[in-house]
Amino acid sequence: MVCLGNICRSPLAEGIMRHKAIRHGLNWIVDSAGTGFWHVGELPDQRSIATARQHGIDITGQRARQFEAADLERFDRIFVMDTQNLRDVLRHADDGERREKVSLILDHLFPGQQRSVPDPYYDDDGFEEVFRMLDDACESFIRDHLEAST
Ligand code: 4NP
Repeated sequence: MVCLGNICRSPLAEGIMRHKAIRHGLNWIVDSAGTGFWHVGELPDQRSIATARQHGIDITGQRARQFEAADLERFDRIFVMDTQNLRDVLRHADDGERREKVSLILDHLFPGQQRSVPDPYYDDDGFEEVFRMLDDACESFIRDHLEAST
């Protein structure tokens, strides 16, 4: 899960996807990172922590880190939050195999629409909406995965 700061959106996405994966008995390694370096080592934003907590998910074990090219090898799928993240991550993907791993997280729900998860950093009210978008996207991805593997 990749966003800009790795303190607002992608920590929520990481927490949600891990929570759902565990619930479905999927042994997935879920992680997140930011394309920027400003918040490396920090806890998620307090507003993301509070929003996750309201939904029964604890994300306080997370610390921000910066996305690195090796993530494209380490992980099977890279979900980015917005089109700027997409460009920044694809800059590190120098072959088709790596590029194919990368997609906008909302593409799963809205294929071909290039929709971004809005950055809630400057909008105190945006966190619940972001949570719901990410919850829907993760649920849809897991459901499709489970259908495809049965
Ligand atoms: P995020 O939100 O990319 O969802 O973690 C942001 C966090 C911090 C900044 C921008 C976006 N910032 O400019 O510091």
